[in-house]
Amino acid sequence: MERIYIFDTTLRDGEQTPGANLSTEEKLIIAKQLSRLGVDIIEAGFPISSPGDFEAVKLIAREVKGPIICGLARARAEDIDRAAEAIKIAERPRIHTFISTSDIHLKHQFRKTREEVLAIVAEMVARAKGYVEDVEYSPMDATRSDHEYLYKVLEIAIEAGATTVNIPDTVGYTTPAEFADLIRGIKKNVKNIDQAVISVHCHNDLGMATANSLSAVLAGARQIECAVNGLGERAGNTSLEEVVMSLATRPDNFKAETGIKLDEIYSISRMVSSLTGIPVQPNKAIVGANAFAHESGIHQDGVLKERSTYEIMRPETIGLSKSRLVLGKLSGRHALGQRLGELGYQLSKEELNGAFVRFKELADKKKEVFDEDLIALVEDEVFSIPETFSLEDVYTVSGSRQIIPEATVKLRRGDKVFEEKVWGNGPVDAIYLAIDKITGLPCELMDFSVRAVTEKKDALGEAMVKIKHKGEIIIGRGASTDVIEASAKAYLAAVNRLVYKMRERKGKED
Ligand code: KIV
Ligand code: ZN
Repeated sequence: MERIYIFDTTLRDGEQTPGANLSTEEKLIIAKQLSRLGVDIIEAGFPISSPGDFEAVKLIAREVKGPIICGLARARAEDIDRAAEAIKIAERPRIHTFISTSDIHLKHQFRKTREEVLAIVAEMVARAKGYVEDVEYSPMDATRSDHEYLYKVLEIAIEAGATTVNIPDTVGYTTPAEFADLIRGIKKNVKNIDQAVISVHCHNDLGMATANSLSAVLAGARQIECAVNGLGERAGNTSLEEVVMSLATRPDNFKAETGIKLDEIYSISRMVSSLTGIPVQPNKAIVGANAFAHESGIHQDGVLKERSTYEIMRPETIGLSKSRLVLGKLSGRHALGQRLGELGYQLSKEELNGAFVRFKELADKKKEVFDEDLIALVEDEVFSIPETFSLEDVYTVSGSRQIIPEATVKLRRGDKVFEEKVWGNGPVDAIYLAIDKITGLPCELMDFSVRAVTEKKDALGEAMVKIKHKGEIIIGRGASTDVIEASAKAYLAAVNRLVYKMRERKGKED
């Protein structure tokens, strides 16, 4: 069995998903869970891109043990210096530097000749090597680059000290057979390739990221770059759960294995979806709500007789237990802390006390409390962005005839309570207009959804909103057994995140 290294880029390329901005604290929670999952490398961010990214990478480098912690840097001195500063405290630091090699990028974006890029690669990889032993180099847009030139660039990068060479399909253009040929070409034509690990980084624009990555493994790649739930630019990156489960389910075909703890896959998928606010599509392979649901009679009949008739993987393998009922009204603080710990949420004593109060309130309203309820609760109440505005009360009037929907919203800011009563097209519209009026931050509502977190009529409702303020897109979520309250909380969570970001930016400018 060949060992395949899993390089997770959820916190870097994944965070480039529109609207998926995570706070530093949320990034740390995810990084700790990635370490528990057993990824080999965490790309924690792009330190020069913003002061917030720098701080997050530095914090993860300090706090997260186990995986290699990697910082991204363009092939520029200032980027490399900043990445080195952010990751230097890590147990096992890596700098990942990149510059394009395709003529399209060189001519239209970088306005550099091939020779100039060769010199930059040699100089910048060597600069990174001056800081850390472990250096990765990526020729961006490799799949649309001239092959002979690409081989030369890779050779120079390895000569300058790169220990991993990553082949990005930046625009999701390649196909499985073509990509495998490219990897074989690299193995054959790059003289010093035996001194580096070949990595692949695929985007999913044509829906082939997983297939391309796996095809590259068959051709000799030993590192796959991927993101949880396939998050990432445009159509996303290769999905971590898909490549990992493909390798685990078809060892006969791939003859390769990873170090991933398969039964942690479901909980990290849930965590990333909740914290980024980006739902997982129901028919998503491995982690979608329908991934293990058998709807047709013939399939159900087969599975009842013998699971292997229609099931190639077991839900338990990815940590999706069939009986998800976990806690009830009489469960204690210890049981709550233990279950949250198993789900990846290690709470401090104070946080657990806060979560326990909310759990008891929920258990009073709802007979059965499931894992999904706990995740919604803990993310809503414990790991939310600091609240500038908190919801004191919301009251709505609406009906199907002759009633103009209206909302009265009371928000607290510090020790002051503000109240507005507003009419709208519907109760949710009225609530959002009232919140805008109080906060003085009018936002455009770009997306809104409500879903039941679990089954049955007493389920928690989870609302998600995507709002836009002065071009900036922010996601918020809120949960409650009352969907009107959940909708108000979601919008307010997004507004609080906006205020937090505005303050963070201002603080950095001052
Ligand atoms: O898609 C891409 O080319 C990248 C590089 C930075 C590796 O994300
Ligand atoms: Zn990418």
